[in-house]
Amino acid sequence: MAVTHAVTDHLDGDYLRQALEQDVRTGLTSVPKWLPPKWFYDAVGSELFSQITRLEEYYPTRRELAILRERAGDIAARSGADTLVELGSGTSEKTVLLLDALTAAGTLRTYTPVDVDAVTLEAAAERLAARYPRLAVRPVRADFEHHLSLLPGTGRRLVAFLGGTIGNLPPAAREVFLKELRSTLKPGDTLLLGTDLVKDRRRLVAAYDDALGVTAEFNRNVLRVINRELDADFEPGAFEHVALYDEDNDWIEMRLRATRAMRVQVRGLGLSISFEPGEEMRTEISAKFREEGVLDELTKAGFDVLHWYTDPAEDFALTLAAR
Ligand code: AVJ
Repeated sequence: MAVTHAVTDHLDGDYLRQALEQDVRTGLTSVPKWLPPKWFYDAVGSELFSQITRLEEYYPTRRELAILRERAGDIAARSGADTLVELGSGTSEKTVLLLDALTAAGTLRTYTPVDVDAVTLEAAAERLAARYPRLAVRPVRADFEHHLSLLPGTGRRLVAFLGGTIGNLPPAAREVFLKELRSTLKPGDTLLLGTDLVKDRRRLVAAYDDALGVTAEFNRNVLRVINRELDADFEPGAFEHVALYDEDNDWIEMRLRATRAMRVQVRGLGLSISFEPGEEMRTEISAKFREEGVLDELTKAGFDVLHWYTDPAEDFALTLAAR
């Protein structure tokens, strides 16, 4: 019998709709145009991202897994957590390593995955509840940037924010986010933060411009989401995928480039938007970090850094910090 896990939904009613409307209106009427990466992740986009994590060129997931395989026991012991809260949990593939380690440490009781996509959240909750019969799985559908204060506050929590997703936020937004996250934590709670590290630019760019074109499809998926949700008529095939590394800001930027002049109707917003031939619209930044920068940002937000974990190639890092 399939067990369903009641999802606590902070994105019900009008919330998601209004956030999407506002983001799309703001982004498409800005010069240059841009869209926030949050809207990649409907069920199709979440599945495309899951395919990205298995691509030859996309090293972050494998590196993060390697670190967790080696160090999850140490992380579990240092955190002493009975509750794992995972922000932007997606398919929760890496989570198993943390859950195993916390189970072995004998402390674990509750797992709270937090994600914007209900389908992905349900599937992950079911899979993990089946694997850990004694674990209380309490999925929360929320936007981690805006709903930190609504997350369950009970237990000794380890908040995991993996994958390098914090790199989707520009520096000023990261500062706000980290400060707010710290203010919602109690003494004894910890944060495990995944960050992709600065490296050879060819490897960075290849990770966001794979030979199979999966990242390109992922990028164009935001147009399909807007077409469906806001009754727009983007032609995804008329936009080219662009990935570049900005050395000054230390971030990867993904863009969609109009291959010809176009006029797009977003009927749900009563907007008519024109694109010049070759015009580029930013769809994501993915910041790359140095050790000093990560420690500095965490310290400025009021965290005590407990440990820096990296893989032998120093491609990716996990930082454990206490409130
Ligand atoms: C899920 C935000 C960590 O920035 O590497 C992958 C998303 N974008 N390929 C990243 C992504 C293009 C990914 N994060």
